[in-house]
Amino acid sequence: MPDEKREPQENSPKNSGGKPDEQKPITTAKVEAAVHLIVEEAKKKETVKAIEERVQTSLEEQKEFQRFSLLFRFQHFLLFSSCIILIITGLPIKFAHSGWAEAYFHLTGGIAFSRLFHRIGASVLIFVGVFHVFYLAFTADGRKNFFSFLPKIKDVTDVFDNLMYFFGFRKEGARFGRFSYLEKFDYWAVYWGMVVMILSGLILWFENQSMALLPKYFLDMALEAHSDEALLATLAIIIWHFYNVHFNPEKFPMSWTWYTGNISREEILKHHPLEYEELLKQRKLQELQKALEGKEELNGNKDKPPGKNLGGVEEKG
Ligand code: HEM
Repeated sequence: MPDEKREPQENSPKNSGGKPDEQKPITTAKVEAAVHLIVEEAKKKETVKAIEERVQTSLEEQKEFQRFSLLFRFQHFLLFSSCIILIITGLPIKFAHSGWAEAYFHLTGGIAFSRLFHRIGASVLIFVGVFHVFYLAFTADGRKNFFSFLPKIKDVTDVFDNLMYFFGFRKEGARFGRFSYLEKFDYWAVYWGMVVMILSGLILWFENQSMALLPKYFLDMALEAHSDEALLATLAIIIWHFYNVHFNPEKFPMSWTWYTGNISREEILKHHPLEYEELLKQRKLQELQKALEGKEELNGNKDKPPGKNLGGVEEKG
């Protein structure tokens, strides 16, 4: 029988006189390893706490936060410059028979001037429209903004929360992330408006070529859409957008974010508290990651504490 021939084992339960399922004796080495593990874990917790506190304090001391990158501001600059030119040169064409338009044409040297500058403005708008698509697709900043602009269920609940707040049923309104539902609406209205204005404008611009390809009612529809959307866009910009960035008492005479790209600490906390919280989380994670990488380097040293992992306890084979 193989069992009878087996040599008695040192430390075997039989040898030590213990029962087969009794615990093995705890050796000094094991106690040391356990103590080491506990100390290392405590140190780690202390380090994490210290890092988190450092990040929190540094963020609390930060007075300004970047909201828009240079590339974003460049596009916004081209967008509003071209829109101003297009409105100034387009509306007199729409209302060509009114007294004020006649006075305008008289001052600027005739309708030919408006037609030319309208086409220059249109070319800039087309450029910025195409540029924006590439920016969204091929830059990290663009992709980040695009996903932040996408409508979410939270936007619907935010509208509800704010209505409850405005009617006095709640003490606090909705808390927003990077973009509120109003800002998202503003963005998509411009986006949609641009598509309509560029497509209808191109049909008007290249009237002969488009009539060679399309039925006449396309030209009528394009003129109608272009003319009406132009008025809608102008009113939306003056009433909606200008209120948000200029006439709102908090912003008057204007918010300089379009130029500096920054918003103040008070603004981010008041209007984008969830973005602030996200920023805090990300910075903590980054700092912890850095610390972790530093520690791994340390573990690569000769005088590293015992163990392969950060806990410091060597896994013996
Ligand atoms: C914010 C953007 C724009 C606004 C506010 C605007 C406004 C206007 C207005 C009010 C008219 C007069 C329509 C009428 O006669 O009832 C007009 C005409 C026209 N627009 Fe625009 N437009 C814009 C963008 C564009 C774009 C992107 C293009 C070209 C792609 C374009 C090309 C034209 C052309 C070719 C005409 C006809 C001008 C003429 O009689 O020679 N527009 N626009």
